[in-house]
Amino acid sequence: MIRDNPFVFCALDTDNLAEAQKWAKEIGPITGGLKLGLEFVNSHGPQGIEAVQNACPSAELFIDLKFHDIPNTVARAVRTICRNFDPAYLNVHAAGGPAMMRTAKEALEGHARLLGVTILTSMDEEEFAHMACKNSLTEHVLHLAALTHKTGLNGVVCSAHEIQPIRELCGPNFVLMVPGIRPKDASTADQKRVMTPEQAMQNGATHLVIGRPITGAKDPASAAERIMEDIQKNRHHKGS
Ligand code: C5P
Repeated sequence: MIRDNPFVFCALDTDNLAEAQKWAKEIGPITGGLKLGLEFVNSHGPQGIEAVQNACPSAELFIDLKFHDIPNTVARAVRTICRNFDPAYLNVHAAGGPAMMRTAKEALEGHARLLGVTILTSMDEEEFAHMACKNSLTEHVLHLAALTHKTGLNGVVCSAHEIQPIRELCGPNFVLMVPGIRPKDASTADQKRVMTPEQAMQNGATHLVIGRPITGAKDPASAAERIMEDIQKNRHHKGS
């Protein structure tokens, strides 16, 4: 099963450049992975990504911009990001369809891997009903995960509760990048379907996205260290 290092990406969700740089410097060496999303990139652009990279040059980046546009535009966006930042992970919406996903995949450069976003975890059955889709929400998540796999992308971003069915459908070498992670003692905040880091890894997640349990802690570096230790201890214990 793909479980390369780093397997934890800390979400630097802020519009404050100095804060993102401080987090990168403190947390990056511990988790080895940092995630930058729409709030940060729309606030600080390519210079902001570069500033975070300079704050922790050893960290791998997941640039989470969830592209969804015509194939040519998405491919150009993917190529530009790969050339400028050589990220470890990028993502596109699977709903963009197989041609968009395939073209985006062909545009990858460097060591970047491409993930599909199936259905946003903020969507529930009631909200999904507005999409006039004949599948149930869960059926559609699985359908889009299988389509992402068939199209040759490296994996999907999924909730912890979708790990097992997607793993069964897409096999052992498919990356499952899982947000909504909360250590036992952490507040869930606005995440509804959460799981502990140890549980999610045991269930078959290959990578975890963890934001506020680290960045919202009084001492982010020790929070990150504790989480990494707990995961390692558990993996050791299970002999995995
Ligand atoms: O702070 P927290 O650990 O909840 O952060 C989770 C991160 O993962 C955020 O950056 C959020 O945007 C992202 N994410 C998510 N659910 C998804 C996809 C991404 O929470 N389905």
